[in-house]
Amino acid sequence: DNLPSYHREIAENFSRDGAWGTWVGRWTAEENRHGIVMRDYLVVTRGVDPVALEQARMIHMTNGFASPIGSHSGLLHSVSYVTFQELATRVSHRNTGKVCDDPIADRMLQRIAADENLHMMFYRNICGAALDIAPDQTLEAVSHIVTNFQMPGAGMPNFRRNGVLMAKHGIYDLRQHLEDVVWPVLRKWRIFEREDFT
Ligand SMILES: [Fe+2]
Repeated sequence: DNLPSYHREIAENFSRDGAWGTWVGRWTAEENRHGIVMRDYLVVTRGVDPVALEQARMIHMTNGFASPIGSHSGLLHSVSYVTFQELATRVSHRNTGKVCDDPIADRMLQRIAADENLHMMFYRNICGAALDIAPDQTLEAVSHIVTNFQMPGAGMPNFRRNGVLMAKHGIYDLRQHLEDVVWPVLRKWRIFEREDFT
């Protein structure tokens, strides 16, 4: 729901020139599709109170989103942040599908998780190439992101309470963040095998 803010942050950081512009446009369209299908599902099934959902959306979107690391942080911080964030989203959507106990929700969230995985791979490849080209600068950005990580929804109403519910139901917790998100990405980048970092 906060996609206009995310689009602004990403467009400002990556620019909209050439291939970047094409990527940002396509990414925005895909994330919007995810938001639409999840909202439609929740409203049609009355899975949540639609009035409460709309009230929360108004507060959340009015606040908007600004990157906690600031928009001056540049490309390396942005691509490392979104690598971890897209993977976290993939893991949590996938697990949400499992605990919904409804084959339609499970299929829908599997499909969304597959998109999130592609988003993650795109950013992970760019960040991996940056590690080859500019290892010191990139490692500094990665280290800053890993040690200050927050999901983009952190300011939304009841985020803390919902975060506890997510942990309780096996959707996402700190252990999953470490084992399913942080370690696999760092291993893929061969962070601990690179001579220049040892
Ligand atoms: Fe995504």
